[in-house]
Amino acid sequence: MNISILAIESSCDDTSAAVIENGRVLSNRTANQEVHSIYGGVVPELASRQHLINIIPVIDTALKDAGKTLKDINAIAFTRGPGLLGSLIVGVSVAKTLALSLDIPLVEVHHMKAHVLAHFAEDPKPPFPFLCLTVSGGHTQIIRVNDYDDMEVLGSTKDDAAGEAFDKTGKMLGLEYPAGPIIDKLAQQGVHKFQFPEPQIEGLDFSFSGLKTSILYFLQKQVAENPNFIVENLADICCSVQNTIIHILMRKLIKAAAMTGINHIGIAGGVSANSGLRQALSKVGEEKKWTTYIPAFEYCTDNAGMIGIAGYHLYQKGYFSDQSVTPLSRMDFGM
Ligand code: KG4
Ligand code: ZN
Repeated sequence: MNISILAIESSCDDTSAAVIENGRVLSNRTANQEVHSIYGGVVPELASRQHLINIIPVIDTALKDAGKTLKDINAIAFTRGPGLLGSLIVGVSVAKTLALSLDIPLVEVHHMKAHVLAHFAEDPKPPFPFLCLTVSGGHTQIIRVNDYDDMEVLGSTKDDAAGEAFDKTGKMLGLEYPAGPIIDKLAQQGVHKFQFPEPQIEGLDFSFSGLKTSILYFLQKQVAENPNFIVENLADICCSVQNTIIHILMRKLIKAAAMTGINHIGIAGGVSANSGLRQALSKVGEEKKWTTYIPAFEYCTDNAGMIGIAGYHLYQKGYFSDQSVTPLSRMDFGM
């Protein structure tokens, strides 16, 4: 039987819908919210209001792109959490309403697990078990992926996420939110001229708040001596900070591979769109003889395609939710 799934993602500031047929993404449409850029971060209340405006047109476009109508859909997959509660409420309410009115199953999806399962959107697909470094605006995790529904967090950040390290650095440098992609571009024109201390955290956990503080003190000191320091050195600062973040991430990934003996290794989440991180994974992968997996750009940052892929595999395994399901801003990884 043909299984067509309509997927909805609204956990943060992107409103996204996708249609997945038999595990293949037919359409994947996202409306970004420009409204936050001047605030240096996502404003939750504005995000929820923007989701309300965007969600129906985005679903409509995703269906049209896929050449489908609601009558062709067999199940609705949606992000239950984690994320901003007001944002999640919009996607969850629309998902429940569609499932109820069409009398089809609902499949809840954990946003961070969906980032990992984005590896199954396209070939080559990793075999189980594999390791995934999941780096986004809210999370930094090394995950051992045993199956579509069996994942173990081996390490995670104790404070800021890798994406936050990019975004907060960007704020100090006067860049718009989200600063990750801007720093990525600027870094390509700079050299790694400035040194920042790396955290010494045991095991496979991460910490980025110390780096943030040392960047702040460094900038304050330099600007006191030369008020034009940031403008004159922007590309080199971006390159130095980006390389430091990548080095912190790669060090732990290498350690995780050595500890587990797993050599199928991927990256996922918004920060996996970073060109330096993508290059670093390929380079280290060649040296260590890993098989590496890097998602296409459209599956790195938040998108409903990955929710649909996760939803499809959970549907196959019979994981359905009922109409009492509620959004969760924090969602245990065991769920
Ligand atoms: O996964 P995502 O879209 O949303 C969350 O679930 O958080 O990740 C967003 C994060 C932001 O912090 C953004 O700055 C970062 O991903 N990001 C990047 C790049 N593209 C997005 N960071 C570094 N380089 C990039 N090219
Ligand atoms: Zn995300």
